[in-house]
Amino acid sequence: MTELSQSQMFRTSKLEEADGPGLNPTQNRTMGDIIAARFSRRSFMKGSMALSAIAATVSPVALLAADEARAGTTGSAFNFPEVEAGVDADHHVADGYDADILLRWGDKVFADAPDFDPTRQSETAQERQFGYNNDFVGFIPLDGASDRGLLVVNHEYTNEHLMFPGVVTIAEGKVKVTPATQERVNIEMAAHGGTIIEIRKQDGKWRPVLDAPLNRRITAKTEMRLSGPVAGTDRVKTSEDASGTRVFGTINNCAGGVTPWGTYIMAEENIHGYFLGELPAGHPEAENYKRLGVPAGDYDWGKFHKRFDIAQEPNEPNRFGWVVEVDVMDPNSVPKKRTALGRFKHEGAESVVAADGRVVFYLGDDERFDYVYKFVTAGRYNPKDRAANLDLLDEGTLYVARFDEGGGMEWLPLIHGQGPLTAANGFASQADVLIETRRAADLLGATPMDRPEDIQPNPATGRAYVMLTNNTRRKEANAANPRLNNAFGHIVEIIEAEGDFTATTGQWEILVQCGDPSVAEVGATFSTETTKNGWFGMPDNAAIDADGRLWVSTDGNSMKGTGRTDGLWAVDTEGQARGTSRLFYRVPVGAEMCGPCPTEDMTTMFVAVQHPGDGGDDWEGHGRPSYYEDLSTRWPDFRDDMPVRPAVVAITKRGGGRIG
Ligand code: FEO
Ligand code: CA
Ligand code: CA
Repeated sequence: MTELSQSQMFRTSKLEEADGPGLNPTQNRTMGDIIAARFSRRSFMKGSMALSAIAATVSPVALLAADEARAGTTGSAFNFPEVEAGVDADHHVADGYDADILLRWGDKVFADAPDFDPTRQSETAQERQFGYNNDFVGFIPLDGASDRGLLVVNHEYTNEHLMFPGVVTIAEGKVKVTPATQERVNIEMAAHGGTIIEIRKQDGKWRPVLDAPLNRRITAKTEMRLSGPVAGTDRVKTSEDASGTRVFGTINNCAGGVTPWGTYIMAEENIHGYFLGELPAGHPEAENYKRLGVPAGDYDWGKFHKRFDIAQEPNEPNRFGWVVEVDVMDPNSVPKKRTALGRFKHEGAESVVAADGRVVFYLGDDERFDYVYKFVTAGRYNPKDRAANLDLLDEGTLYVARFDEGGGMEWLPLIHGQGPLTAANGFASQADVLIETRRAADLLGATPMDRPEDIQPNPATGRAYVMLTNNTRRKEANAANPRLNNAFGHIVEIIEAEGDFTATTGQWEILVQCGDPSVAEVGATFSTETTKNGWFGMPDNAAIDADGRLWVSTDGNSMKGTGRTDGLWAVDTEGQARGTSRLFYRVPVGAEMCGPCPTEDMTTMFVAVQHPGDGGDDWEGHGRPSYYEDLSTRWPDFRDDMPVRPAVVAITKRGGGRIG
């Protein structure tokens, strides 16, 4: 979700705490001047890690010298003509590629769904149509085919000013949305969640299969189960669910993942915005909710559905903020909220099978000064028996990362009874540790980060890439978050000890500090090969493709006066080209780039264009607030009777072949 929506979107910016200081009251591991100390010790060490450190932080001249010393490595792993960065109403892909619209908000997910009519929306229609604000995209091949599979897509949130006619008034140049009716709330709830839909490639083009048996919409009302250590405990019981296991819906599903056994992971991120009301006086959840910013009251759902009003249903927020797993092979399966993976503002949950068969999930908590986590399953992945893997996520160890000044790191286990995680500190059980994951991590001394987003492991190297999107509120640097005014974010590379993803120690480097390298104060560290089109800010989602190459999508470039929209960048991580970035695809004005999802055979890159048209005040092509009646773009249809629509795009090479 975009961090700053300019004048328009009070709701979006509230959800991201755009101007707030972050919610972490602790000051773990803050250090003023350790960067210099670190690199004076390490800059001239031998070996690739030391070279990486140089690449990330030292001048281009030093970088060249280092590269000359490095044998057997050559240029970029990518080869495509770069897109020119800029802003306009359309999307753009590298020459020689096609970017085809695959699914738009309102498109049919089932053969019997009604045609999309933006002037006559309804809950029942939206429940059968593609939802709003597509974010995570995953592809699960069917029967091992490369041209047939399930596309799984999160619908993170709704932008009422872009979705609905007649709901906006303009006051002092800003968009104000009228209070919701019950009908509008129900449409919004149906536009949240996710879509599972079969797609097939015929004659080189992907198309949805509307009569496929596994197609499914998941919404903010879909029945789910809590599973794992928190299920059935008192803090998740409500007046409507005495069992503490039965929950309706999933919300604000940002990024996610596809597990090695082919289930779909939907991460619940900014859940605080959906709750309103006040806890009863002296309620024991007060501190817990404060740490998550609950309630923010950004949506009106609680006026019509009492479970979103914490005065009436004080435990309901404890039933959100989890990682949700969906068995896509059974369209009637009940999705499970996997509580063992902790409760926070989950960005995503990308996984990798470790050498010993245990499965490791990397988890970012997207808030200023919050943490990087990983979860290691207790059981081992069984590639021969899918069913045997279906509850692997209920047992395992959750760890939080401490990044040390010397370039080492430690994964600290969040286990009840160990260290400070005891009854004396208010943790009576593992369920308490998981419900209040952030507070437990505070006590362990985790490193506060600059908004951890997607974390992408590279199975071939034992490394993982952490997108840190930005943080301009930092008063003290720490080594892994070295910039105080970090408007453009950075990428940290985790190097697990001996390449073992289950390791509890490791090393880390900064792959790149983002922003415009031609502006010295920004402190960007892209390689000198990076062109004026190639640099980016605000890394958000990422993918490692079948060749082990890193792709990074961004959130917020157009909001920072950079003269460029968000997009998908290809970033070298190896050899001389390390730290080189180039622009492959860019989104229309106001949009954020989500996805990205390369297919295993590398012939398609699926991307998600989120909240297009949400902005345009500072773009000369519009120059005023953008809303349903006065949009900065009508992408992708460009029809006067059709509003702008978030959409999933399939990028292929013209004439076929591998991408990038
Ligand atoms: Fe939904 Fe962290 O962006
Ligand atoms: Ca995002
Ligand atoms: Ca990803």
